[in-house]
Order: sequence, then C-alpha cells, then structure tokens
Amino acid sequence: MQISNRQLFLNHIAQVSPKPMELEIIRAKGIYLYDINEKPYIDFISGISVSNVGHCHPHVVKAIQEQAEKYMHLMVYGEYVQSPQIQLAKSLTDLLPENLNSIFYTNSGTEATEGALKLAKRVTGKTEIICFTNSYHGSTHGALSVMGNEEFKQAFRPLLPDVKIIPYNNIEEVKKNITSKTACVILEPIQSETGYTVADNQFLKAIREKCDEHCALLIFDEIQNGFGRSGTLFAFEQTAVIPDVLLLAKGMGGGMPIGCIVSCQKLLNEFTYNPVLGNINTFGGNAVCCAASLACLQTILSEKLVDGIETKSNLIRSLLKHQAIKSIKGKGLMLSLEFENTDLNFKIIETCINNGLIVDWFLFNTYSMRITPPLIITEEEIKLACAIILKSIDEVLVEV
Ligand SMILES: Cc1ncc(COP(=O)(O)O)c(C=O)c1O
Repeated sequence: MQISNRQLFLNHIAQVSPKPMELEIIRAKGIYLYDINEKPYIDFISGISVSNVGHCHPHVVKAIQEQAEKYMHLMVYGEYVQSPQIQLAKSLTDLLPENLNSIFYTNSGTEATEGALKLAKRVTGKTEIICFTNSYHGSTHGALSVMGNEEFKQAFRPLLPDVKIIPYNNIEEVKKNITSKTACVILEPIQSETGYTVADNQFLKAIREKCDEHCALLIFDEIQNGFGRSGTLFAFEQTAVIPDVLLLAKGMGGGMPIGCIVSCQKLLNEFTYNPVLGNINTFGGNAVCCAASLACLQTILSEKLVDGIETKSNLIRSLLKHQAIKSIKGKGLMLSLEFENTDLNFKIIETCINNGLIVDWFLFNTYSMRITPPLIITEEEIKLACAIILKSIDEVLVEV
C-alpha cells in the first residue's frame, strides 16, 4: 500500500506543534497557494511576513534561474568577490543612512540576532544586553536569551547571562536601566509577536539618547518589520531614530533564505581581528539567495509597492468591522485583529482556512489574528479576503 504524503509528513518531519495545519500545497503564485486538489487559498500571512512580493514573482524566479546557471555556492562567506552579494549590498546601503553602510549576510533572522549581540560585546567590551518584554528575536540560544517571554524560554536555561528585560514603551525604565554597563539595546520598532505593538517615538528617542550617553549599540530588529511591510521600506524611517545596527531577513529574500546585519564598516570590521574570522558562516550571502533578494528589492522599488500600503491598510481596517472584533492594532500591512479569547480566535482562524484564507495567531498573543498579506495584494483581493473573515466569524458565532 502506498503511504500518503500526509502520513510521511507525520512520520518523518519533526513536529513542532501538536496540531499541524497539514495543508498539502503543491504550487504558489502571487497571493495564492494551491493544494493537491487545486483548491486556492489566499495567503493572508505571507508565510510569515516573507512573501512581500508574492509567491514566485517572475523577476525573482528569473534572477534565481539566471544565477543558478552561473554559480550557486562558492567558498565560504567573505573571501571571493561575488557580484550578487556586492550588488545587493550596494543597493541596500544606498537606501540607508550613512552609518548603515556595510553588510554581513546570514542565513536567517536568528543568526543575524546572534551576530549583532556578539558585535555589541566585541565593539563595546561590555556584556550587558537590554531587551524588552514580549520581544521576539529568534529561536537560537542568544536570541532566546533576549526573548521577552518566560514561557518560551524557561525550558532551555541556562541562557546568556547579563540580560535585562525591561517594559516596552516605558521611558522611565529606559532612563533607569541603560547605564555605563550596557553593551547594547535590542528591540523591534514594531513588536511582532504581541500582535504588532508600535514603539512610541519618545521612547525610541530616549533609548537613542541613553545609548549615545553610554556608548552602547542600538540594534533594531526589522526582521519582520522590514522590506516595506510597515508602510515604509524600513520601519525606523517613520521614527526620529537611526539605529547603529539593523537586522533584516524574512521579506529580504523574495522567498529565499537570507538575512543580514547592517552596520557601519568600522564596527563590522571588528570581526576581522582578535580573533580573525570573528563571525562566519558557510552559506550566508549565497549567490542565488542574493540574486533573489536583489530582484525582490528592485521589485518593491519599481512596482512602488510601499506607496500603496497605507491605502491597503486603511481598506482592511474599514472593511473589518464586526461586533466580535474588539480592536485592530498595527501599522501598514502588519495588522492584528483582537477577539474575546483564544478559543474564539482559533475557531475563526480554522474556519477562515477551511474557507480558503490563510491567517494565523501570534506567539505571545493567542487571542488575536495575524494579517500580513503580500504587499502586491490588490484592493479587490483585500475585499475578497475580508469578506471571508467576516463570513467565517459569522459561521463560528452561529456554532457557539
Ligand atoms: C522580529 C523577528 N526577529 C527574529 C526572527 C527570527 O528569524 P528566523 O525565523 O529567520 O530565524 C523573527 C522570526 O519570526 C522575527 O519575527
């Protein structure tokens, strides 16, 4: 008897949750995923905040194909002069402030976090790291150490020492806790896993001032915020603050795995000596991933995707009016719908998926629904998706 793919999935793929979705997707295009029966699903989460230019964007696919025919992997990071790496670094840094002029490529977001924490220790000679309640910076040991949620980290102690977790958007705590001992402060300008909590400008300014006063590095994790999702290419552009270190990943690759640490060359070059090769990897800056990332960036710019985000965000907010929706939080195309409780939220999410719309919840906020569609989504498609959400809410409410 032939074993189904579903059974093979359960037998051989490590399971990270007790109840996986188990959708069997065979292809994806634009905002749509298609299952084995060719049933279409609108991807309203961009798997998660990755497919900003949609799935299989023709420019990205072409760039991947062309680069794959030239070369894929060369010797480890930073030794050979590789055109895809250089062109991407030049294009990205041209779009950033002067101090963010150098790039270290990584394979993922969490690896960018790890490198940034190491950089802060190396540059400042200090060890104390300040982070915030409900922050998420990845799942590896260093990133877990600066996670602002005890439930997800308690099983993995001991973690990094010298980490202080302070409340988000609290200026008094910033003033009290950032001191001469601080090596760095790491935060997301829009906290993702709480259901998109936006940092106050005054809070960010206070952090910047304290970091300057005490020669501590300010690290912005825009791994989820970046590449247009917040309504500007990078979320920090909407604030009065420029970080010393910017972390990017997710939407960066147009669907390929890539991340990076952006900082000033003087700082990043600290990894060159004492010890030599202070931060390295095998696949960071892979030529095919860089080519995909450059095509993705060029698409965001040439299709002026960022310009349409405010209108799309407002449209979603105006359409999603229902007595069961308690609030809509967030910015740009990173929005969260708050429901009465987790059970109701999970039921509505499940019903949406059955009705052909992929939505999700948040790691630290299980009573809210995640809405992060591809930035290419049209107003007509938004109307269709929002109608599915409203219909699904009604279907669930009839049952309960
Ligand atoms: C804000 C933020 N930082 C870091 C990460 C970790 O990125 P990755 O999953 O690529 O390791 C994520 C992933 O969800 C994230 O949302």
